[in-house]
Amino acid sequence: KKAKCFSDSHYPIGEINDKLYSSFTEHLGRSIYSGIYEPGHPDADEDGYRKDVMELVKELNVPVIRYPGGNFVSCYDWHDGIGPKDKRPKRMDYAWASIETNEFGIDEFCRWAKKVGIEPMIAVNLGTGNIKDAGDLVEYCNHPGGTYWSDLRAKNGSPEPYNVKYWCLGNEMEGSWQAGHLSAEDYTKKALEAAKIMKWVDPTIQLVACGSSYEMLPTYLDWDRTMLSELYNQVDYLSTHNYTMNAGQGTTNYVASYKQLDQHIKNSACAIEYVKAKKHCEKDIKICLDEWNVWNFQDIKLDSLDDLQGLTTFEMTSAGRWEIAPPILEEKYSLLDAIVVGGLGITLLNNADVLEIACLAQLINVIAPITTMKNGGIFKQAIYHPFHMLSTYGRGTAMKASTEAPKYHCDFGDLSVVESAVVYNKEKDEVRIFVLNCDQEEEVEFEIELQGYGNKQVKKHLVLSGDDYEARNTFENPDNVVMKELPIEASKNLTVLLPKMSWNVIILG
Ligand code: AHR
Repeated sequence: KKAKCFSDSHYPIGEINDKLYSSFTEHLGRSIYSGIYEPGHPDADEDGYRKDVMELVKELNVPVIRYPGGNFVSCYDWHDGIGPKDKRPKRMDYAWASIETNEFGIDEFCRWAKKVGIEPMIAVNLGTGNIKDAGDLVEYCNHPGGTYWSDLRAKNGSPEPYNVKYWCLGNEMEGSWQAGHLSAEDYTKKALEAAKIMKWVDPTIQLVACGSSYEMLPTYLDWDRTMLSELYNQVDYLSTHNYTMNAGQGTTNYVASYKQLDQHIKNSACAIEYVKAKKHCEKDIKICLDEWNVWNFQDIKLDSLDDLQGLTTFEMTSAGRWEIAPPILEEKYSLLDAIVVGGLGITLLNNADVLEIACLAQLINVIAPITTMKNGGIFKQAIYHPFHMLSTYGRGTAMKASTEAPKYHCDFGDLSVVESAVVYNKEKDEVRIFVLNCDQEEEVEFEIELQGYGNKQVKKHLVLSGDDYEARNTFENPDNVVMKELPIEASKNLTVLLPKMSWNVIILG
């Protein structure tokens, strides 16, 4: 098969915000405990942070990490996680039916963030929490001193404010699985009052409002319209979440899920545009896709998405009741999952005009690119590699591209066998093309036609492909699934061969 990609330097989609490569870590399973934090581990530093984890987080170059939830935040009282550790209470976390020891809290997270060089994005509890607590948390984190909460932060070891810029007004408040779930109208009232107080405490913060995420809910998008009609001028981002699952839909649809994400992002963008037009606003607000990933619910047996209906969140895991940091939701990602994650990354880039923040959910152990062993080693899951490539090469300007390729039919319509995203990096004067070949049988001859970029040749071709789509990385075989570099044929330097069902990164300079 043959495909052709055409891009002209005069037609940008938009500047790619670095925050497109952000991530998320929740008090869930072993994400924090024996993930980020494990005092006594041979590789832990003086504060109990695992240095092997810090190294990989730095390698991924994630700019922002969202914390502490997720569903967890809607049951969380941040006061429990500050002060002397031996005085911190053990609490029931209703979201994941676990016991939270509170050894790790806001101070530990913000200090870790500083060490790894990321910006924290903190979610406040708008489920079971109240708006005063949200204001107090902003004061604790950001006020320089001379008030109760800011002085307490200093007493707890951090005299300098953390200056947390990004704040989420709750998590998935549309869903009945959320502790303290609210109707759109009630969320709007509560979020408006929380936003007011939080911005009184620190007017420089940026707020992320809960939009709707789950397309099967009857409130999908109506929620956004209702909420934004009141909150448009008080917030900076509309949040949405999107998980992709390989259950019951077949490989053809699974590989094409980049298209489902594309529609999902465009739906949120339409909700923003609708309210903007209706209210005659000048200001733009952007989308914060603060949870996205492949999530196959490997803990439980699942035949299709419908099997999830009516389950509580902890029923979606293999958790026993009330364990401390149980090993739950520890997905073992395959080569196929990694190819799909790469495809989803292409969608992020092609929506760079409306999408400003995207958090791969999550970062460590729980549906994550990094897996650790308690008191043991670490390895990179298959999905680590496409995310690393996107974060490394997907910086600059997202460019419009048109592709001519044979079509195939799937649940998302008639799609091209090849999907691509083109990035121009001015600093290096490089064109970087991310390409998904969805054809499961055949390789595709991919011709690149560029206009206005100067004389460019293919310098590098990296690929994620293989014969065994079920191949996985493990502690014993950590490099089963990695990116491979293919040789460049000088005589065909604007044409490359995309292996059957593969995800490719092509660098031209
Ligand atoms: O990332 C796991 C969970 O997925 C989060 O806690 C929740 O926000 C979403 O439903």
